[in-house]
Amino acid sequence: MSVHVQNSRMTTAKLRQMKVNGEKIAMLTSYDFTLASLVDEAGIDMLLVGDSASNVVCGNQYTLPITVDEMIFLTKGVVRAAEHALVVCDMPFGSYQVSEEEAVRNAIKILKESGCDAVKLEGGEEILPAIRHMIQAGVPVMGHLGLTPQSVNQFGGYGLRAKEEAEAEKLLHDAKLLDEAGCFSIVLEKIPAALAERVTKAVSCPVIGIGAGNGCDGQVLVLHDMLGLNQGFKPKFLRHFASLGAQVKNAVETYVEAVKDNSFPSAEESY
Ligand code: KIV
Repeated sequence: MSVHVQNSRMTTAKLRQMKVNGEKIAMLTSYDFTLASLVDEAGIDMLLVGDSASNVVCGNQYTLPITVDEMIFLTKGVVRAAEHALVVCDMPFGSYQVSEEEAVRNAIKILKESGCDAVKLEGGEEILPAIRHMIQAGVPVMGHLGLTPQSVNQFGGYGLRAKEEAEAEKLLHDAKLLDEAGCFSIVLEKIPAALAERVTKAVSCPVIGIGAGNGCDGQVLVLHDMLGLNQGFKPKFLRHFASLGAQVKNAVETYVEAVKDNSFPSAEESY
């Protein structure tokens, strides 16, 4: 019996080649089958099931509460939708910090149960042993430096990171360590554009920015944010590529009206 493998699927090797070729990489978050299908069909290179699901799907203030099993549940739908994109699942807070063994066990669980292609985790030198073990075990790993929302309580907010020389140098050092350890890509969140460009040039793996200027190898945004589903959230780095929040509200208001005045369903919409 042979298994059909689509060769149009994005791979970590293709992403690395895109960096070499100077071809920009487009990444967005996704959390469900229906939207992920649309995003995949539209030509996205990578789909990230971010732990931002804790905020945009579950309504939590922080990313911290979401669990491994909840991430797996969401990722399964995205994996079923992805015919082209490489699917990355965020490892949630607490799933990789306790010990290297537990980190590898959780990474393997996520890969096996969700069917995703890779995992992402936040941090530099502090979590390097866990990253090395995962990569040795065959798990493709994406790093995440700069603003790392799982550390919000340590940072005391979501402000710009690495403004000062010492933090910038540590970030550059961390990025080189992640690259040398074999991370297939690194996300840089909310850092000065000049620093992001410096990091991008200093490492061999593709660097994906969010709030990190256009000198990175690619960009990532939270899908709900770029679609304008939450009009109230508009940090400087975010561009609204649509105003779906207003459109959804308008459609629902029209539906409620049609139900109340009994114009829906019409004769044509009835059996
Ligand atoms: O969880 C997430 O959505 C992320 C992106 C902001 C990169 O980590």
